[in-house]
Amino acid sequence: MKTLIKGGKVVTAIETMNADVMIVDEKVVGLVDSDSDISRSFSEDALVIDATDRLVVPGGIDVHTHFESEGQIAPVLDTFETGTRASAFGGTTTIIDFAWRATGGSLLDGLEHYHQMAQGDCAVDYGFHMMVNEVDDQTPKEMDMLVDEGITSFKMFMAYPGRMYSTDAQLLTCYQKAGENGALIQMHAENGIAIDVLRDQAVENGQVDPVYHSLTRPALLEAEAVHRSVVLAEIAGCPLYIVHLSSAEALQEVVAARDRGLNVFAETCPQYLFLDLTDLERPDFEGSKYVCSPPLRPSDHQAELWRGLATNDLQVIATDHCPFCWTQKELGRGDFRNIPNGIPGVEHRMELMYQGAVAEGRLSLNRWVDMCSRAPAQMFGLYPRKGTIAPGADADIVLFDPDSPHAISADTHHMNVDYSCYEGHEVTGKVDTVLLRGKVVVEGTEYLGRAGDGRYMSRGLCDGLI
Ligand code: URP
Ligand code: ZN
Ligand code: ZN
Repeated sequence: MKTLIKGGKVVTAIETMNADVMIVDEKVVGLVDSDSDISRSFSEDALVIDATDRLVVPGGIDVHTHFESEGQIAPVLDTFETGTRASAFGGTTTIIDFAWRATGGSLLDGLEHYHQMAQGDCAVDYGFHMMVNEVDDQTPKEMDMLVDEGITSFKMFMAYPGRMYSTDAQLLTCYQKAGENGALIQMHAENGIAIDVLRDQAVENGQVDPVYHSLTRPALLEAEAVHRSVVLAEIAGCPLYIVHLSSAEALQEVVAARDRGLNVFAETCPQYLFLDLTDLERPDFEGSKYVCSPPLRPSDHQAELWRGLATNDLQVIATDHCPFCWTQKELGRGDFRNIPNGIPGVEHRMELMYQGAVAEGRLSLNRWVDMCSRAPAQMFGLYPRKGTIAPGADADIVLFDPDSPHAISADTHHMNVDYSCYEGHEVTGKVDTVLLRGKVVVEGTEYLGRAGDGRYMSRGLCDGLI
């Protein structure tokens, strides 16, 4: 099967060029001049997709989603099927989710369980990080076995005492193992022990509304946790990746670590760039829709995060997609501590980031592709199979219309949740056509793929080390 994407502007993380993309079966085989004989003869027996006035970019890679996640205080609404279909509509052709370890079970059992849940259901390619939500004597040995199986990243928590939290001793033990086997540690960096004191005090004082979720998780306690995590990683000699970094203070700790030449990386998420503390103050408990951890911050943090993206101190944009509907959020009416943490967003990452980065003139087209596709691929052992358009790469390709203004709305999104945090938010660019390994899975508003198109990916080690 041959496909030619004709007449578009190809944008990768490092170059921009007018070129036709030649695809055979699942792979890109070449980029050629539109007027060339090669393009003409290739087109004779190929499906030709007209990309006039379109940006032709590598499929997005969202390395932080929670579909069917079992570790939250309420069931997460998107299944692997609905969540990955929404991803495809949003131009994200690869996701990496988190396999959760059940209480008393092993990491390997947890992984197997998530394989069963996802297999045959996914609309886009997928992989797993392993959640190390409990540490025991077997954990380091299991980490070795998982790396051998292509699970090369492990998420740990300094937050959520009693549920997912690890002590410094447990962290160091796992970091040391990662230092030996080359795995990447992903850290949820918030000082959960101190935060729990503040949360309980707030509720005792009658401060129960959603905004107190943020006020009791101050940026300094995120920064402190990043700092401690960096120190432990330096001692253990392992690479460290801070997930969902939300604040200027936390970013400063990452900058300081990187300036010292340490392998410390970080992602931020659209919610920290486009939403802020005032959303948590919305009346009639609407603020609960914006509860996630780390929390939304005052808006002055946003400029610092954009600066971190410009200086490459923040490398990756992921969504931390974790959807709960309005009735689930209602569980926390009268006590913000019971509001399920997490917000939806997997469908809007590419369009929002195009808006904030390119349309509003903060960053280049290439940087947009870098943050949303190349860097996550490289960080999580998928590059250059994913994250670029080049001979040999998977033909995961998005035709993006840079001039199609529209407003984001729950009325038109495909995520399985009854509200959008970005309701009414205007963006100028739109995902138009999406190819997954050469197959057209989205064309305009039409879904042409099917559950099971997505393939599991075993991953290599992090490939971006200093
Ligand atoms: O609020 C969030 N982030 N929910 C998902 C779980 C996590 O900590 O990533
Ligand atoms: Zn987290
Ligand atoms: Zn998360």
